Amino acid sequence: MTCTEMISVNDIIREEKNSLKKMEGAVEEEPRAIQLYAVNKDNLVKAIKYCASEAQIIDLNCSCPADKIVEQGGGSALLEKPEKLRELIKAASSAINIPFTCKLRLGFSEENILAISKLCEEAGASMITIHGRTRHQHYGGKADWSLIKKVKETVTIPVCGNGDVNSVEDYLRMKKETGCDYVMIGRAAIGNPYIFKQITDHKETGKYLPATKKQTLADLKEYLNLAEELKVTFNQTKYQTMLFLERILWNKEIEHKLNNCKKRKELNELVESIKL
Ligand SMILES: Cc1cc2nc3c(=O)[nH]c(=O)nc-3n(C[C@H](O)[C@H](O)[C@H](O)COP(=O)(O)O)c2cc1C
Repeated sequence: MTCTEMISVNDIIREEKNSLKKMEGAVEEEPRAIQLYAVNKDNLVKAIKYCASEAQIIDLNCSCPADKIVEQGGGSALLEKPEKLRELIKAASSAINIPFTCKLRLGFSEENILAISKLCEEAGASMITIHGRTRHQHYGGKADWSLIKKVKETVTIPVCGNGDVNSVEDYLRMKKETGCDYVMIGRAAIGNPYIFKQITDHKETGKYLPATKKQTLADLKEYLNLAEELKVTFNQTKYQTMLFLERILWNKEIEHKLNNCKKRKELNELVESIKL
């Protein structure tokens, strides 16, 4: 299952081109959730009606810590406004016939996740995802999984645990320590897209293999073609190329050559020049 990055409901209503593009996905990514950022219930419902046919799940972001989102009362600011959150979930979950879910943090500054989780369940959410940090922690420190366990013991809807799952072993530990139904993986997927297959392989066979350098190089070449076709920005493409190269062949010379790449063509040439 995959989830888009958060998309503003106001941008969807305005049919803003870049935001509509974020909703697109491949069939292989299904079931797919479209994650929305909203403050106003009427706009949330309007946007949901616009995009519900594009996804299998609609998710509300109640976890984003960014100042510009929080200042408008959205993202993690909703954790401090239980009645506003209740109103949004009630309106949204009764406006569609696919699941409506919420992505939460442990709290804004204080941890209030048990009360908020119960509220989400009562208001009509079909699942909640908990990132085991408060808004004040942003992405620093260690995610607290013990509260994810408590949430799982508090609500009857499925709970998805999130925060610091970087390997198959972390995934197994998250499931065991919290009893959560699902696990969400964020940052680890950027450097290691193989993590999903590794987890599936482990579930099915009890073991998994790390990706070989040869396979990683072939995937990097495919990624570069796709990035160009899908108009991924040059800087993002270069960053992802660095993460792949770190797994294939990383030394001062490659680092220097990569740093000097200013165009897609130069990135392609650098990658094509690698012989394993
Ligand atoms: C650059 C960046 C962008 C993110 N964007 C989103 C987002 O749009 N929606 C969301 O729910 N979480 C977003 N997150 C948070 C991750 O989904 C996840 O909750 C967090 O990184 C903790 O999980 P992890 O340790 O597996 O990365 C973002 C995180 C980062 C670092």
